[in-house]
Amino acid sequence: MAKIIGVLGSKGGTGKSSLAHLAGHGFGSLPHPVDAVVIVTDPEDEVVQINRRYFVVDGRDHTKLEAIIQKLDEQDDLMIVVDGAASRIAVDQVISGITDLILIPFTPARHDIIRAAKHLERLSGAREGGAVGVPNRWPSNPALKTNANKLLDLLPRDRLLLPVPTLGKIVDLISHEAYGRVATSLSRPGQILALNVLQRIGVHPLDMRKRA
Ligand SMILES: Nc1ncnc2c1ncn2[C@@H]1O[C@H](COP(=O)(O)OP(=O)(O)OP(=O)(O)O)[C@@H](O)[C@H]1O
Ligand SMILES: [Mg+2]
Repeated sequence: MAKIIGVLGSKGGTGKSSLAHLAGHGFGSLPHPVDAVVIVTDPEDEVVQINRRYFVVDGRDHTKLEAIIQKLDEQDDLMIVVDGAASRIAVDQVISGITDLILIPFTPARHDIIRAAKHLERLSGAREGGAVGVPNRWPSNPALKTNANKLLDLLPRDRLLLPVPTLGKIVDLISHEAYGRVATSLSRPGQILALNVLQRIGVHPLDMRKRA
């Protein structure tokens, strides 16, 4: 069985697609890389096969999504990251019933965090791996960071992953034209996110063997 990570959230623009790709890139950038696929579910996104450190799979036809995930799930040592879409109930329903972990990104804005907290509450205990919030676009400027961190008190600490900083080039990670230019500089933040996810689901990276 593979491991299935769903990146969900009821709010648009929180970074679901960005973090799905950052995680996929991170798994493929580990010193002992882990095979990863990112399943794209937004009909407005392009799916172009290029040489990435992870695979991109077309899940834009939601009637086929479950079957696609089930097929991939037969492979051991594979991380499947599903890029959910805001308010796309059909996708959420398929994903949230089968995941090992759900990631709910939110930005440092009070309304965003309150919404993430409600979503987390709804999902808590609903399935094995549970759900965690991922602070995204977190400031690195000390004063801004202090204020942003105060907002984190709105969420239970044990339901939080480490914040993902504001990364100017993250938009290029998704782009098939620009990926190669930013792959190296985004390795480190990707690795941190990937390791955080593995730790959360209780898997040691060396236990996910990369196929030759
Ligand atoms: N850590 C980050 N640093 C800088 N910019 C970011 C970060 N995460 C996301 N962004 C930017 O925020 C915008 C929204 O991100 P993204 O498209 O990933 O959100 P989404 O949740 O997938 O949106 P949708 O709900 O429309 O699918 C994009 O322009 C993206 O480049
Ligand atoms: Mg998206």
